[in-house]
Amino acid sequence: MTYWTIALAVPLFIYAGCGGLFRASLNSPWRARWQQPEAVVRALTIPPGSHVADLGAGGGYFTFRLADAVGPLGKVYAVDVNKGNLDYIARRAQEQGYTNVEVILAEYDDPSLPEGEVDLIFTCNTYHHLENRAAYFASAARYLRPGGRVAILDLAGMNWLFRLLGHWTPKETIRNEMETGGYQLVNDFGFLSRQNFQVFALSPPQTKRLATQPYSGSQLSLPQFRAINPLSGGGDEPS
Ligand SMILES: C[S@@+](CC[C@H](N)C(=O)[O-])C[C@H]1O[C@@H](n2cnc3c(N)ncnc32)[C@H](O)[C@@H]1O
Repeated sequence: MTYWTIALAVPLFIYAGCGGLFRASLNSPWRARWQQPEAVVRALTIPPGSHVADLGAGGGYFTFRLADAVGPLGKVYAVDVNKGNLDYIARRAQEQGYTNVEVILAEYDDPSLPEGEVDLIFTCNTYHHLENRAAYFASAARYLRPGGRVAILDLAGMNWLFRLLGHWTPKETIRNEMETGGYQLVNDFGFLSRQNFQVFALSPPQTKRLATQPYSGSQLSLPQFRAINPLSGGGDEPS
């Protein structure tokens, strides 16, 4: 997406709210160039059969890619506070034969997921919309299965307009807030040009090995991660 497309799109978002125009721009084919959705999903090493929540699902940009990753025995909860977005996702799921996508109308301070049922809470470009985030994710811990993870992608403030509108969160802020909420950083991927991409877990990942698909990228155990990267983490591009 060019600079002018973004500059034009943002005021339109404001007027259109989360309507059709907003969803169309989120799902634009140009987005893949910087979003690298396949690399993002691959980096998460999601075992088939997993239950994943797409928090702030929007137009389903990641919902359906996550649904492909979890397969027919898994489930993706498309979670949003906007009913129009959820209706759109439900309609698309039905039209495209996705039986593993379920929509959930969330509260602003609660994703309203089934308790103890979720392996991964995934959230893209939504973190900056949440309030009292440490408390939000501390409370959301009850939705996770043992060994569950939270993957957070948010805009890193490269664009002045998004900075001005507050549509971004510094990586360190996310890490500090998640640590306050009781989580530990387990991955810090640096391959996205516009977003930070961090993964957190409530307990060290050694308690439950999540990778059924072998992954030789930067997925490290917490002690390994800290030994290599005591302060901020590296950010390898996944193969
Ligand atoms: C910028 S869009 C991102 C959509 C999608 N994740 C993507 O990357 O294309 C942010 C989404 O978060 C939703 N949202 C905002 N506040 C929320 C909250 N407290 N809980 C759940 N969803 C929220 C909005 O309705 C919107 O669909």
